[in-house]
Amino acid sequence: MENVNQAQFWQQRYEQDSIGWDMGQVSPPLKAYIDQLPEAAKNQAVLVPGAGNAYEVGYLHEQGFTNVTLVDFAPAPIAAFAERYPNFPAKHLICADFFELSPEQYQFDWVLEQTFFCAINPSRRDEYVQQMASLVKPNGKLIGLLFDKDFGRDEPPFGGTKDEYQQRFATHFDIDIMEPSYNSHPARQGSELFIEMHVKD
Ligand SMILES: C[S@@+](CC[C@H](N)C(=O)[O-])C[C@H]1O[C@@H](n2cnc3c(N)ncnc32)[C@H](O)[C@@H]1O
Repeated sequence: MENVNQAQFWQQRYEQDSIGWDMGQVSPPLKAYIDQLPEAAKNQAVLVPGAGNAYEVGYLHEQGFTNVTLVDFAPAPIAAFAERYPNFPAKHLICADFFELSPEQYQFDWVLEQTFFCAINPSRRDEYVQQMASLVKPNGKLIGLLFDKDFGRDEPPFGGTKDEYQQRFATHFDIDIMEPSYNSHPARQGSELFIEMHVKD
């Protein structure tokens, strides 16, 4: 399980095209969320960590969001994204470990979570919550999806329960929404929670 902490583990999965998590499209609940945002949101600073092939980043870019940052520590999907979106600002494509992003350097209005939390080693979940809270501006938000399911396996995706997430995130966030997602991709129907939370003062 330790190998999920290493970029090489994920890079190999991309090289071998062993990417069962990849939906090949923007996640429907996240598309719906993005679609209802006001025009003024388009210049907010957004982070998509563990973005992989980053369909959400592509969609935000296509919709005119101008300040979106993609982070992943596997270089392959970032290179593929840069090819698909040659006009996307290269300085917002960051090949780095999420846990090593410096809050002094990076601050975001909101972060979009999409199968990143479930990819990290479960022993690092509190570290994820802490690092996430440090990367969002005062009153900044974490939006996205978490699996509402325990996969019972010693490899990603690592699932969980609403109770567990509530306890973990409540240390640094006020939870506004954590509810079963009604518009998930058919392959994920009934197994996702939509979340919206803001960092505590
Ligand atoms: C299960 S994939 C999900 C990719 C994408 N969000 C999607 O839904 O298709 C997890 C991604 O997180 C990246 N990742 C895992 N741990 C990371 C870390 N500590 N820092 C940056 N990226 C990480 C992996 O390289 C991989 O691209």
